[in-house]
Amino acid sequence: MPFYHKLGKLPHKRHTQFRKPNGDLYREEVMGLEGFSGLESILYHHFLPPRVARVEDLGPINTEYSDFGPLRHRAFATADVPAGGDPVSARRLLLGNNDVTLGVSRPDRSMDYFYRNGQAYETWFTHEGSGVVKTQFGQLPFKEGDYIVIPYGTTWQMTLDGEARFFVIESPSQIEPPTRYRNKYGQLLEHAPYSERDIRPPEELEIHTERGEFEVRVKVRGRITRHILDHHPHDVVGWDGYLYPWVFSIHDFEPITGRVHQPPPVHQTFQGHNFVVCSFVPRLFDYHPEGIPAPYNHSNVNSDEVIYYAEGNFMSRKGIDQYDISLHPSGLPHGPQPGATEASIGKAKTDELAVMVDTFYPLQVTTAALEFEKPEYMASWLEGSGE
Ligand SMILES: [Fe+2]
Repeated sequence: MPFYHKLGKLPHKRHTQFRKPNGDLYREEVMGLEGFSGLESILYHHFLPPRVARVEDLGPINTEYSDFGPLRHRAFATADVPAGGDPVSARRLLLGNNDVTLGVSRPDRSMDYFYRNGQAYETWFTHEGSGVVKTQFGQLPFKEGDYIVIPYGTTWQMTLDGEARFFVIESPSQIEPPTRYRNKYGQLLEHAPYSERDIRPPEELEIHTERGEFEVRVKVRGRITRHILDHHPHDVVGWDGYLYPWVFSIHDFEPITGRVHQPPPVHQTFQGHNFVVCSFVPRLFDYHPEGIPAPYNHSNVNSDEVIYYAEGNFMSRKGIDQYDISLHPSGLPHGPQPGATEASIGKAKTDELAVMVDTFYPLQVTTAALEFEKPEYMASWLEGSGE
């Protein structure tokens, strides 16, 4: 996040002697993006960070994409994605391109190993469930509605209070608040739909100095490597900087409304390279006396549009149920199904909750997603006279 945060003990000056009670040095690690030009934090470890007792290749990450076939709107029922496993192993990748991959995870147990993604940011939207993401930067308690944003290089372990359901966004680029909502210093502006106060940085730095065998699964270079450390990976006694994982609740997104229908960018929550993340939250509808609350038909030229339907009544969509994901690809207009526009007139508010990801290059559908596909979705616009 583009604001400074610190936890734990720090020396008064960076790159100076910082000693343990027994006189030994703590081990300083500078962790920065874009070769010391991007966001950076400095961490102080009890143990030498490169110290790995054993390394083992767990093999390549094989993402198999299907042939998209003829251009059409598509939908997938993730209610049927099987539950079970820990959050990382339960993840099912459904859609993806070079800029971003989208999937769901329905774990029923906590992780008993640590995980580090060295090639992508991960954003976990918590649809159901609660728990804690433990990292070297501190603890991130989370609950329903939370986006958990985890930068590359973060070594984390998620513990759950019970079963959970996530919509997971993974991107080789940084996830951050939209540029247009920030001033030249990075601070969020008054017209932004949320403020720094809504961003929850890590809290409660838990310092582990125990020795033993600790497994870290590292995702990088398109493979998973198992590292067995001879010490606990969360051995940081203090850190400061701008690079760290954080949480933002979709319920803290303040909707921007107007007299007539507001365009999708008002829902934008985060940006990545060649994609955006938007939040549709409960809000008052347009208040022009002749306004039409349902969205107009639109051609999202140069953009594939994905929506994960979390809660509420999805006014403009027929054939869509809770937990569904719709894919409206570029090159084909979409909009409310027959009758939905008329039905929206006079409505004062919506209770919908959904996450949208718009990608600027086409998304592919994984072969794993095909078994959850709702092939009848494209025909949902065919009812009535067509006028
Ligand atoms: Fe749309």
